[in-house]
Amino acid sequence: MEKILLLHGPNLNMLGKREPAVYGRETLEDIVGAARALASELGVEIESHQSNVEGDLVTRIQQAATRFDAIVFNPGAYTHTSIALRDAVLAVGLPVVEVHLSNVHKREKFRRHSFLADVVEGQITGFGAESYLLGLRAAVSILRSRQPTPPRARPARKRSTR
Ligand code: DQA
Repeated sequence: MEKILLLHGPNLNMLGKREPAVYGRETLEDIVGAARALASELGVEIESHQSNVEGDLVTRIQQAATRFDAIVFNPGAYTHTSIALRDAVLAVGLPVVEVHLSNVHKREKFRRHSFLADVVEGQITGFGAESYLLGLRAAVSILRSRQPTPPRARPARKRSTR
């Protein structure tokens, strides 16, 4: 079973209370709960980790290399500042899907630049809590399209009628 890490950066522990007009009223626990339900539907395992500390996020990405198949990552404000997180993503070579609750392109100019955007598989931004679920679906589809289907899971080939 594929294992996917949901990684959340600074201030995302404040979801629910933090600028609800921008980020909605759902807490991080609500979002992770919905992601767990989707994960079991999709047949994948997830773990979730939030940190306000850049170095901790770097360490989690490094450790993910041997424990996870992909990362769904909301780097929060570090999106716009962190070369260290970019380098960590490049170092591990795992597929990473960057997600944001808000549409970073519709907000202040400084949010339009992501240090990660060109080293991740893709970016999902602006769908609120749904961004995480779309990100999880994207990660699963990336993993499954890369892995060849094992022979026993292939449908039986039709016998030739000739
Ligand atoms: C965010 C967008 C960032 O610009 C901001 O600093 C965050 C949250 C989002 O999910 O919309 O902390 O990543």
